[in-house]
Amino acid sequence: MTYSSQLIALLKSKYPDCIPLDEIGRTLTLKQTDTSDLIADLVEKGYPLNQSKEGIRFELPLINSDSIKADLRTRRIGRNLIFKDRIPSTNELALNKLNSFSHGDIILTDFQTNGKGRMGRNWQASLGKSIALSIVLKPAIENEQAVLLTQLTAAALSKAIDQITHSSIKWPNDMIVNSKKVAGILTESHFSGSSLEGIVIGVGINTNMSTEDIDNDLRSKATSLLIETQIIVDPNSLITSFIQWFDELYSSWELTNDSSPFISICKEKSILMNREIIVRIGEMNRPGKVVDINPLGELIIKYAGQDSLESLQTMDFSIRGKDSYI
Ligand code: BTN
Repeated sequence: MTYSSQLIALLKSKYPDCIPLDEIGRTLTLKQTDTSDLIADLVEKGYPLNQSKEGIRFELPLINSDSIKADLRTRRIGRNLIFKDRIPSTNELALNKLNSFSHGDIILTDFQTNGKGRMGRNWQASLGKSIALSIVLKPAIENEQAVLLTQLTAAALSKAIDQITHSSIKWPNDMIVNSKKVAGILTESHFSGSSLEGIVIGVGINTNMSTEDIDNDLRSKATSLLIETQIIVDPNSLITSFIQWFDELYSSWELTNDSSPFISICKEKSILMNREIIVRIGEMNRPGKVVDINPLGELIIKYAGQDSLESLQTMDFSIRGKDSYI
């Protein structure tokens, strides 16, 4: 563990208290000048530090994997939490090193520098103001069920966010608060030849971003929990609650093969249900109305001018409300 990681861990464990500089020096066995250099280094890296006569502290609660581990009551999901201070993409790490991870392992960070979103988009994350995590699954299931796993994740995530503020789900992978996106899911499968080696479920949540942290051109569509509630979010209880919900829904689905417990949550919280929408696939725009989400996790649509219903699976498409983002 580097000195920098040790200092970050110390500040997290003491949040919201201030730590006097001499205490940092003693704990990390550092000279005063080295302590000051280390702090300057964290400031340069963009950590939200508050410095005063009393010492230093983080301005925001950051991810503390020890506190999550202590609170988690799951069987397999998240029993092994791999925290990274800084990482390009949790999904990329999980996919590139799939062999070194086991079923249920979770990689997490509050500083993801090159996150991936759906449809080749990038996923912005400011240091300490968002959660990025990836769940590694090596289940004995077919790849088609990856669609269903995105719905299971959406149900768990929405339930966890509800403990802070009311959320809805924009099928298949967006979490919505007050008509704007606060979180997204990216499910990716890894194959060796034709055999499915594992599924990685990436979740990104905008927790404590301010409006200025969100790109200008995204501000009409994206938001954070802090912006919507004016309350600083503790990422650790949010992550713990999400993993608990995920574990509960996943264990029951694994046992019974019945998707109805999480599909019913997705339906109840769906912002698209019974709404007129436009489905955009490539250059084609198709107007229609959402009528259901089926047990396979597919969106059931009645397209304008057609009598029969069609199902939409997760692939390269986007959905807009008839006159707005949702
Ligand atoms: C989307 O809404 O387009 C999906 C966003 C998914 C972002 C998460 S953050 C953790 C994981 N690692 C990544 O690189 N992407 C996902």
